[in-house]
Amino acid sequence: MPRRLILLSVMLTGCGPVIPPVTPDLVTTATARGVITDLPQLERGRSLYTTRCNTCHALHDPLEKTVAQWPALVEIMGARAYLPEPHRRDLLAFLMATGAPLSPR
Ligand code: HEC
Repeated sequence: MPRRLILLSVMLTGCGPVIPPVTPDLVTTATARGVITDLPQLERGRSLYTTRCNTCHALHDPLEKTVAQWPALVEIMGARAYLPEPHRRDLLAFLMATGAPLSPR
């Protein structure tokens, strides 16, 4: 790839993690993981994640933690971000849908 194209693609994509867009598939994944949610809640969760969870540190890739780890982290980090309980539930729904699955035993 020519240098200028590489530079352009870096500028367009940035260096942070790709935070998945909210799709009906995400609702299906959440449901399969035992989380009852819907598109509007996942949208709220995604928006909270991308605006409130990158003020102290860069955004973590949701895949960096498993669905077993996110609930406790959302409690700790949700408190640090001053998120009230309903917002923590929205955020958790999004991270349960996009987090890493449990590794098979
Ligand atoms: C007030 C600052 C602050 C805010 C806001 C914040 N964090 Fe953090 N976060 C930290 C600090 C400091 C660490 C370093 C490790 C620690 O103290 O647990 C951290 C670490 C993390 C880690 C890595 C933990 C580990 O053990 O690997 C994750 C994941 C994380 N934050 C997620 C979030 C999420 C999700 C939100 C949004 C609700 C958020 N953070 C908001 C301060 C913050």
